[in-house]
Amino acid sequence: MSMKSFNTDGAFADNYKMLIGSILPRPIAVVSTLNEDGTNNVAPFSFFTAVSASPMIIAFCPMIKSSTGTLKDTPRNIFREKEFVINIVSESIINQINLTATELPYGQDEFAYSGLTPIDSEKIKARRIKECLIQFECIYRDHISYGDTPGSGMIITGEVVKVHIAEEIMEGTRIITQKLNPVGRGVGNDFFRCNDVFELERLQKSQIQK
Ligand SMILES: Cc1cc2nc3c(=O)[nH]c(=O)nc-3n(C[C@H](O)[C@H](O)[C@H](O)COP(=O)(O)O)c2cc1C
Repeated sequence: MSMKSFNTDGAFADNYKMLIGSILPRPIAVVSTLNEDGTNNVAPFSFFTAVSASPMIIAFCPMIKSSTGTLKDTPRNIFREKEFVINIVSESIINQINLTATELPYGQDEFAYSGLTPIDSEKIKARRIKECLIQFECIYRDHISYGDTPGSGMIITGEVVKVHIAEEIMEGTRIITQKLNPVGRGVGNDFFRCNDVFELERLQKSQIQK
């Protein structure tokens, strides 16, 4: 097998393509926040992961806009309001979620633009997406920024203070993947379905982290 090797000190777009083609499939956080005037902002982020179970912490990574070199609306709102909701995407609403990625002028409501329904949260002011089967209400914890030029990223963490899960996708305490029917992000315009799940037994009980 012959390998192509790349340095990472060139154009951000080249690095970006390596990342999104290699780290697959990526889960999608749909982050809803409040604009300064109290209207809603919604945007998807696939640089997204779980960080800690107790306290319950999740993280996502918005980059500096490649078009303008400025902060995206989502981090701008989070740094001011100190809260956000992470909504999980199912295949049935992927088209609407994709519309929320449109870079609308600041203050224009992506709920209205995409046809999604805002509902009040219980512990924070940022609203949840009714159509999403799982919603995490988060309080901003911290962030680390890696630069302020186009394509520079940052990691934003939030403590989940309330979890909402549609009863219909649960059996006991377990979330049933086939009922959630989540969608992952791929390279370019690719998305993944999660309907080809397989199981593997762990070899040793001692390896299981509890
Ligand atoms: C499925 C999907 C995943 C995305 N993931 C990211 C991401 O991880 N980081 C990022 O900076 N932008 C990502 N984007 C682009 C943002 O959603 C887009 O820039 C959005 O307009 C930002 O909105 P805002 O300015 O309201 O925060 C993604 C777009 C899509 C469609």
